[in-house]
Amino acid sequence: MVRSLNYDDLARAYSQHRGCHEGVLRELTEAIGTTGASRVAEVGAGTGNYAGALRRLLGCSCWAFDPSREMLDIARSRYPDLNVEVGAAEQLPLAAGSVDFVFCVDVIHHVTDRQAFFAEARRVLCASGTLCIVTDSEDIIRSRVPLSSYFPETVEVELQRYPAIAELRGLASSAGFRTWRESRVVTEGVLSSAEAYEAKACSALHLISASAFDAGLRRLKADLARQPLRTVSRYALLWATT
Ligand SMILES: C[S@@+](CC[C@H](N)C(=O)[O-])C[C@H]1O[C@@H](n2cnc3c(N)ncnc32)[C@H](O)[C@@H]1O
Repeated sequence: MVRSLNYDDLARAYSQHRGCHEGVLRELTEAIGTTGASRVAEVGAGTGNYAGALRRLLGCSCWAFDPSREMLDIARSRYPDLNVEVGAAEQLPLAAGSVDFVFCVDVIHHVTDRQAFFAEARRVLCASGTLCIVTDSEDIIRSRVPLSSYFPETVEVELQRYPAIAELRGLASSAGFRTWRESRVVTEGVLSSAEAYEAKACSALHLISASAFDAGLRRLKADLARQPLRTVSRYALLWATT
């Protein structure tokens, strides 16, 4: 059984250490531009990284929903022109057919009633609307660098939390989405500081034992003291249309 997290407590670390993944932002920007979507809703928007960037890049009307008030306070102060509202995936505070594009990044594993989320996304999307779920597949979880390589105990925790892609595809179909497509993005980077890991700006680090966390952090810091580390960050993007 995986412990549940209080996202209000994580808001500060998230705002300091998490930003947009370059490949994810590129794919979202292209999809919104190509489909001509002008009303965009982010579910589980956290501190507003993606909704804020899309609003600035594309000028579309953007809603940012999250159950955590602390996360949303930061989103509001960073991006005053976003429509920021408390709201969970299972019950979105939007009228039926009122948006063209719904997306979430790193959120689906937190949603307890995923069937309700798909039904809600289907309800709030207009005809020919798009849902995009950005998440991790099993192979992505196993190959995360440095998370899985330095904190291998996170792998089992994550495999318990993350739904399989096949399960999400089935839920989309049951909720009445007509099409399904999967794509991948990979961004390579260089890590020179362990700060984000020390601040546990990744929820899985809150779910492993203190000794596993300390050992991983020690190894990471020792390696970084010798040289910067090459990192690889992958995401699976799941696209469904109404
Ligand atoms: C890892 S953060 C991702 C934040 C943001 N999408 C980003 O990538 O910067 C996960 C977010 O999901 C939110 N969350 C947790 N349960 C949720 C639910 N049932 N519905 C919507 N959001 C939820 C948390 O409050 C948190 O802000």
